[in-house]
Amino acid sequence: MTDDATIVRACAKVNLLLRVGPKREDGYHELVTLIARISLADVLLISDAAETTVDCPAIPSGDTLVTRAIRLLCETAGHRAGFHVHIDKRIPVGAGLGGGSADAAAALRFANDLLPRPLIDSELHRLAALIGSDVPALLHDEATVARGRGDRVEVLGQLPAGWLALAHPGRPLATRDVYQRYRPEARPLPGAIALPQTLEEMAALIENDLAVPAEALEPGCRGLREQFTELGAMAACVSGSGSVVFGLFRTEQEATAAAAKVRDAPWTATAAVGTHPGE
Ligand code: C5P
Repeated sequence: MTDDATIVRACAKVNLLLRVGPKREDGYHELVTLIARISLADVLLISDAAETTVDCPAIPSGDTLVTRAIRLLCETAGHRAGFHVHIDKRIPVGAGLGGGSADAAAALRFANDLLPRPLIDSELHRLAALIGSDVPALLHDEATVARGRGDRVEVLGQLPAGWLALAHPGRPLATRDVYQRYRPEARPLPGAIALPQTLEEMAALIENDLAVPAEALEPGCRGLREQFTELGAMAACVSGSGSVVFGLFRTEQEATAAAAKVRDAPWTATAAVGTHPGE
């Protein structure tokens, strides 16, 4: 760590809505998703270095997405030196919370700001899509709707303030495995999605087409969803391709109480979603 490192919070996401259509010719599925950033975050320290190196003690095999993102950024910008990035991981891996993608997006955004000649936003967005389907949306702090394979992003704005209880059933799920098990439905993907104005409107939107294959691959996900519902969640669902399940609550106290009561979850947490005065 160097004294002049830029400290960045890379916030996790939940997919409040995830509708998945048929597989395209490029092997990806056409989707529509409403992505919310939440207060659970990894912390990145980014500093100038002669060469790019990334250390992430929580992932012994080494990080790949941030390394790829920074190398691609430097190459595209014609920057001969690199960056050192230290990642303090708090977002569980293989959880559907977009931890790796959020780290890559944050590294792209903030390393770009440190370049003598930063790339313009559209160029940064193009690089983000090359790193992963979730990365373009995670360049934004506000709620977004992503379409296509995830790369066509519309910024929606600030969601109403609520609290999430999060629980991990103990086994990660690989995104590819969950998509492979998914059987698209005949109903069409939604058109325009309006920013929910109240928590009730937000709760009513919550739905995930990948919940069926995720719960089939990890039955613990279903148990956690049912427990959050019994504990009074306004809505409960797997996030993304799982395996973390979230329950939406009105207050921090309610979310904390639910997270404490949930059984058979080796990892639980609470996180704020939407606008929070004084944050
Ligand atoms: O783009 P990314 O590498 O994050 O995607 C991981 C995997 O998820 C892909 O290899 C693919 O199996 C699946 N996927 C998909 N359709 C999408 C996004 C991801 O099938 N729109």
